[in-house]
Amino acid sequence: MGAYRELYQGWKDNPEGFWMEAAGQIDWMRSPTKAFHADEGIYGRWFADGTLNTCYNCVDRHVEAGRGDQAAIIYDSPITGSARTYTFSALQDEVSALAAVIRARGVEKGDRVIIYMPMVPEAAIAMLACARLGAVHSVVFGGFAAAELATRIDDCAPKLIISASCGIEPGRVIAYKPLLDEAIEISKNKPQSTIILAREQQGCDLIEGRDFDYASEVAKAKGTDVPCVEVAATDPLYILYTSGTTGQPKGVVRDNGGHAVSLHWSMKNIYNVDPGEVYWAASDVGWVVGHSYIVYAPLLHGNTTILFEGKPVGTPDASTFWRVMAQHKVVSFFTAPTAFRAVKKEDPEGKLAGEFDLSALKIIYLAGERADPDTIHWLENVSGKPVIDHWWQTETGWTIAGNPIGVEMLPIKYGSPTVAMPGYDIQVLDDEGHSLAAGELGNVVVKLPLPPGCFPTLWNADERFKQAYLEEFPGYYKTADAGIMDEDGYLFIMARTDDIINVAGHRLSTGGMEEVIASHKDVAECAVIGIADDLKGQLPAGFMILNSGVNRPIDEIKAEVIKLVREKIGPVAAFKIAVPVKRLPKTRSGKILRATMQKVIDGADFKMPATIDDPAILDEIRDSWKDHVG
Ligand code: COA
Ligand code: AMP
Repeated sequence: MGAYRELYQGWKDNPEGFWMEAAGQIDWMRSPTKAFHADEGIYGRWFADGTLNTCYNCVDRHVEAGRGDQAAIIYDSPITGSARTYTFSALQDEVSALAAVIRARGVEKGDRVIIYMPMVPEAAIAMLACARLGAVHSVVFGGFAAAELATRIDDCAPKLIISASCGIEPGRVIAYKPLLDEAIEISKNKPQSTIILAREQQGCDLIEGRDFDYASEVAKAKGTDVPCVEVAATDPLYILYTSGTTGQPKGVVRDNGGHAVSLHWSMKNIYNVDPGEVYWAASDVGWVVGHSYIVYAPLLHGNTTILFEGKPVGTPDASTFWRVMAQHKVVSFFTAPTAFRAVKKEDPEGKLAGEFDLSALKIIYLAGERADPDTIHWLENVSGKPVIDHWWQTETGWTIAGNPIGVEMLPIKYGSPTVAMPGYDIQVLDDEGHSLAAGELGNVVVKLPLPPGCFPTLWNADERFKQAYLEEFPGYYKTADAGIMDEDGYLFIMARTDDIINVAGHRLSTGGMEEVIASHKDVAECAVIGIADDLKGQLPAGFMILNSGVNRPIDEIKAEVIKLVREKIGPVAAFKIAVPVKRLPKTRSGKILRATMQKVIDGADFKMPATIDDPAILDEIRDSWKDHVG
């Protein structure tokens, strides 16, 4: 039996022993007496009688262990031309000082704090400062508009919001403060105060008594020693909102104990790095990859993490990734396939990689969307390194299926994120819940309980959690991905089974976009689908039926609808395609056949749904699309 099989079987035979051993790598304030507490929570809870502090484990314990002078965070910002390194000692000072400022704003253990910031080190510092106080942070991605921010404010009712004056996108400065002000204005649960980081690219006005200046408050608090607050392993560390099938996002809750144990375990076993080595995930702190692999996992494990403010191309060019890897001696690199598709488009032969010394780099990891074999082959060729696909979700917080390089590098099958990680009993079921044979396409599910680190519930929404994830396949967690497992246990993830699309590695709700489009005064009905795109994987396309009697120029209406989605959801929706249609294909019971529409537009094979009301509408959709693309 290979090392992976032995490890996986070891976990299956004795999950309690497996996770208690992993828990030994975390500094507990009160050690848990057992790993799994079956009687607690919705499907059981992990390490329920243990207490700890996540910030202590990420920062203080490394200083106490003599690593204070090691780089903890390297901030590399080609978009602003700046760079800065924080050692673990410096990080401890910064986090303590900001924690003192947050505490002075009345934030206590269990209170929520929203963090709405660009990719600056202060975003990570704010996350850690909340963790230090036992406060629950909720980071909101900067590409979301005010209305999306307001939805999250209303859902988690933060006492405080930490933000910045601006973010920087290629060619433009994004003023954050007006978006924040508008979000607070339209939200019902208004925060008591805000802390605003003023950036030199664009300042902002502060509202007396509500808004506090980050730099001057932190300067005053420097030297204040704020102790790490003891929290239960099951207390929430953060809430991260992710797209659901409607415009109301799901507040994924992450606990402290299981999160620390599983992420620490993943660093050696999955990413094969040792403490002290440099690890880089090129994502954004607003996404789960940013939470787990820019901030928490590398710091828990004593690695140096890179916080990169830039894009794979255009900051200044397609060599940026290679330059950062070479300059900082990155050992393990992680990004979404779309980022390398962007690099490949600019530098098809990968000549730029050859200009840098990549000898420190051992492996490149991809996740966030399906890794197409073309991109993997290209990347292997230009980098000369193994390229490893792995599959996970915001809900799980770490790898469900991957290639455990630190244990054993399994043979790569292109198009597969490889095999189940310990903790996950992955099965493929038909719609009635029966197991499918190897090679058959079905619903990918995970047998309960989910392992440590995965979400125990949704914020203030236990019923929605049960209904969305647990009810359809009793005893299992529904991933909402469709896939195949082959006879060697390799998994192939093919598509979502719900109305979520994946645009440039960003998870978006078509239902949320439809709600916005339908709110336009001239639109009677609409359907948004994800159409195939060479660069971003998918692009949202909206098909809309106009109200009868509307006879304004169609281009005017299209532009308004596109603007509305950008204003209400944000630029990250990348919504730029609006197509007028006369009718939408539906089942006889009135359900729009989005998946079939998608196949028609992409020119893929499809089976005519038996329940379709009028098959001729599919031809109309195809014709409208042809008119649209000219
Ligand atoms: N704040 C404000 N606006 C933002 C933003 C932010 N933090 N992030 C993105 N946007 C804007 C972009 O500027 C763009 O605006 P535009 O319509 O005016 O051009 C829009 O949102 C869409 O962004 P995106 O889909 O990211 O497209 P892009 O053309 O800017 O970049 C890639 C394409 C592939 C280079 C980029 O998406 C990328 O690097 N992806 C990596 C994937 C990733 O980080 N995934 C996270 C999970 S691993
Ligand atoms: P997110 O919650 O934003 O991380 O998105 C999770 C979804 O992205 C999954 O449910 C999949 O649909 C998709 N996804 C993530 N990683 C992969 C991968 N390696 N292969 C295929 N799909 C992936």
